Amino acid sequence: MARPIALVTGASSGIGERIALRLASSGHDLVLVARRGDELARVAGLATAVGAASEIIVADLSQAADVAKVEGRILDADRPIEILVNNAGYGRFGKLTELDGAGEANEIAVNVVAVTLLSRAALVAMASRKRGAILNVSSLASFLPFPGFTTYAATKAYIRSFTLALHEEAKPFGVKVTCVAPGFTPTGFQERGGLSPTSGVPGLLLTSADMVARIALEALRDGRALVVPGWLNALSARFLGLMPSGLQRRIGAIGSRFPR
Ligand SMILES: NC(=O)c1ccc[n+]([C@@H]2O[C@H](COP(=O)([O-])OP(=O)(O)OC[C@H]3O[C@@H](n4cnc5c(N)ncnc54)[C@H](OP(=O)(O)O)[C@@H]3O)[C@@H](O)[C@H]2O)c1
Repeated sequence: MARPIALVTGASSGIGERIALRLASSGHDLVLVARRGDELARVAGLATAVGAASEIIVADLSQAADVAKVEGRILDADRPIEILVNNAGYGRFGKLTELDGAGEANEIAVNVVAVTLLSRAALVAMASRKRGAILNVSSLASFLPFPGFTTYAATKAYIRSFTLALHEEAKPFGVKVTCVAPGFTPTGFQERGGLSPTSGVPGLLLTSADMVARIALEALRDGRALVVPGWLNALSARFLGLMPSGLQRRIGAIGSRFPR
């Protein structure tokens, strides 16, 4: 029997790489999407070692034409995608007035527009087959207005709200939709965003990329709407959600003062 196929965006490093390799080990073939083709080829090599075949799509998900290319692959009925993982994303630390507008628009294009369009394409394809699963990567930062990480936290709040609503829309079709909201996880994310690897975040709050990947995929398998990896992060998310807005803003402002 043919192996099911999982498409993972941002599979060239960090959490996406770990998700892709865990899916490869659990019997999936892969479609790997990101900009760095050499890194995708490295991940494909690791997947081959556990028996998975990989297709590589080099795509910049801030660009409409590249998003359309990935949508086209998702909608290809001859090679159905069983699992879509919208993991590609990034954030730039800094005050909004100090960041250039084009960069902010790029971040929104990758974190919001691409996630929306690829989720839509996947649900269209999966609903007609009455099976499939979508995993979208949000962030613990989505639970707070986060001064200094203002646009990033807002894009991740969008992903969380969008994905929770889609979870309900997808139910009648038998399609699973899960949002994972990781806390601080040392990966390439920190360097891209202008942060140091742990940025002074206490060790108890740190999670590894592999742990996030494992917990996210277990939640997807179990049909959960939302998962926050790490017990302390999960507890924080609970409390943050219950707080009045003024307190949330003050905690966000404290968080943005962690040494970079
Ligand atoms: N690390 C954390 O603390 C943390 C916490 C919460 C949420 N997250 C989220 O987790 C996800 C994965 O991040 P990570 O921590 O694993 O960081 P990472 O190692 O920097 O991985 C980010 C991935 O996104 C891809 N990507 C970035 N911009 C892209 C673009 N324009 N087009 C296509 N692909 C693009 C990168 O690939 P290329 O550079 O090859 O294109 C890379 O594979 C992100 O959505 C991030 O917001 C991370």
